[in-house]
Amino acid sequence: MSEQGLEKTLFSKEEIAEIVAQLGRQITEHYETSDKELIVVGLLRGSFIFMADLVREIKCPMITDFMTVSSYGDATESSGDVKIVMDLDESITDRDVLLVEDIIDTGNTFSKVVRLLKGRKPASLRICTLLNKPSRRKVEVDIDFCGIDIPDEFVCGYGLDYAQKFRNVPYIGIYEGPVE
Ligand code: IMP
Ligand code: MG
Repeated sequence: MSEQGLEKTLFSKEEIAEIVAQLGRQITEHYETSDKELIVVGLLRGSFIFMADLVREIKCPMITDFMTVSSYGDATESSGDVKIVMDLDESITDRDVLLVEDIIDTGNTFSKVVRLLKGRKPASLRICTLLNKPSRRKVEVDIDFCGIDIPDEFVCGYGLDYAQKFRNVPYIGIYEGPVE
């Protein structure tokens, strides 16, 4: 069954699970020998479903935290302006930080969050994104763990929204509904 405005499936539930499992294996391999505490930080709201699945595929001890930054409002274009709406509860100083994002598009949001978190002196800071739109990049972002590259399309489902809708859709589809 498809959701109105989201008819074209880009990745099925099963394909997403395979990508997430693969990321989990890479991340586990990277951190299993570290003696620092791992903190996995999800950027809300887009990453909440991916984060929930991903952490269960990472087989090493960790703590989790979330942060909300605002970028788009309800539009489909990044303004380049990022502000912290909700900060982390945990300190990241001297911890291994894995920052988890649903999608990296222009890179505006992420580059600013990375700069901010680096200022808090983590032992290390790595970046994981489920989706990557390299053709849209305006600011360079070094992605350590990348799920999959996608073309320049606006996608929704599996946590990703258009005007806060479609986050609950279990697959990832291309949004073709009306643009408000
Ligand atoms: P950036 O600052 O342009 O890299 O945008 C990052 C944020 O924009 C992501 O965390 C998403 O919340 C949102 N975003 C970018 N592209 C899409 C998309 O295709 N669908 C849904 N949200 C998107
Ligand atoms: Mg987001």
